[in-house]
Amino acid sequence: MKGAGMPEVSATELFRRGFNFTPTRVARAPGRLEVLGNHTDYNEGLVMSVAVDRYIEIAASPRTDGRIELVSSVFPQRELFAVTDIRRNPEAPWADYVKGVLLELRRKGVHFSGFSAAIDSSIPLGAGMSSSAALEVATALVVRELYPYALNEQGAADVPPTRDRQGRLPVLGVKERLPLARLCQAAENRFVGVNCGLLDQISSLFGKAHHVLSIDCRFQTVAHAPLVGEAIVVCNTGVKHALVGGEYNALREHCESAARALQAKSLRSVEMSYLKANKHRLSPREYECAYHVVGEIQRVVYAERALREDDHRQFGQYLFQSHESSRDFLRNSCPELDLLVDLARQHRACLGSRLTGGGFGGATISLVAYHEVEAFIAHMSSAYEQRTGRQLEPVVCQVVDGAG
Ligand code: GLA
Repeated sequence: MKGAGMPEVSATELFRRGFNFTPTRVARAPGRLEVLGNHTDYNEGLVMSVAVDRYIEIAASPRTDGRIELVSSVFPQRELFAVTDIRRNPEAPWADYVKGVLLELRRKGVHFSGFSAAIDSSIPLGAGMSSSAALEVATALVVRELYPYALNEQGAADVPPTRDRQGRLPVLGVKERLPLARLCQAAENRFVGVNCGLLDQISSLFGKAHHVLSIDCRFQTVAHAPLVGEAIVVCNTGVKHALVGGEYNALREHCESAARALQAKSLRSVEMSYLKANKHRLSPREYECAYHVVGEIQRVVYAERALREDDHRQFGQYLFQSHESSRDFLRNSCPELDLLVDLARQHRACLGSRLTGGGFGGATISLVAYHEVEAFIAHMSSAYEQRTGRQLEPVVCQVVDGAG
């Protein structure tokens, strides 16, 4: 996120200012929006998402003293550490995402040495666009630029990719993308301490312009379906969600204990009728979470069909239903998110609206007929300000290709 009132600079410019020379390599990764499928990913469920035109960009150069030095456009303090001594610094928790990825790369047998890096972000923090996954993916890619490696299911391949005459590496192969997404997820699970699923990392790596991703988290497959004709509008409540705060992990635990009590591998295997018949085996909270997840996976199935049939009105209805289920059963909404969805629903150009991402604050995503997007934005801003006294700056996001 650009600091308020700060002039916008690129990662390259940030690097020049921070290190007094020009960086040799640049990599970037987009943020993502969850379109439908709230908290389904770690339940081996189905989820739909898009990569959007907000990025983490990292400019970097190798260095010879075996140290890594990071500067950021968002956080004022630098972070400096030795490649042989990668550990948490409570003063710079933002660097944990970078460090976690470096440790996972090493675990997979990727060799790297020191580097200086400048990290620039145009992804608003805490707005449900997953700046964290974009930072993880951009880190993995900038290391690949500096110290080329290829990944496969087992780890680093014996033969690294070679640069062309212009010094460019080949684009990331299809088969490298899933191992890389998993590596970034492992960094977040093991080092940052958030037990997130694969949604964010897959979205950042598999995004396709003008398409929605349909991710099957049990089989770890990705399909693309065109989404043209509507604008995607993000409304950020400004209420910060802190996934590391534990609420996210708690939801995951309820879902997993529900699956265990139902003797299912995951909630993906549970039918709604079976869940209802076995309600007595679950605690009330486990039941609520499971009820949301099982219904939500079903909604994704129906929504995929609506999209295939070009029935965007129907598709949008599933977004509204998803929000109601998150609000009433998973209970990861908040009054500001509920208000935004209610206001969006009042506007005739809005096909669907819901909270997106982890919840507990963050943003809503709304699907809006293109020709009325300006009227929709004006309606949202003035109505939200009238009701809360707070300003709202809705953002129209473009759907873009993934990283690499
Ligand atoms: C966060 C997590 C994802 C996913 C969503 C909720 O974005 O990082 O893995 O669980 O919440 O669907």
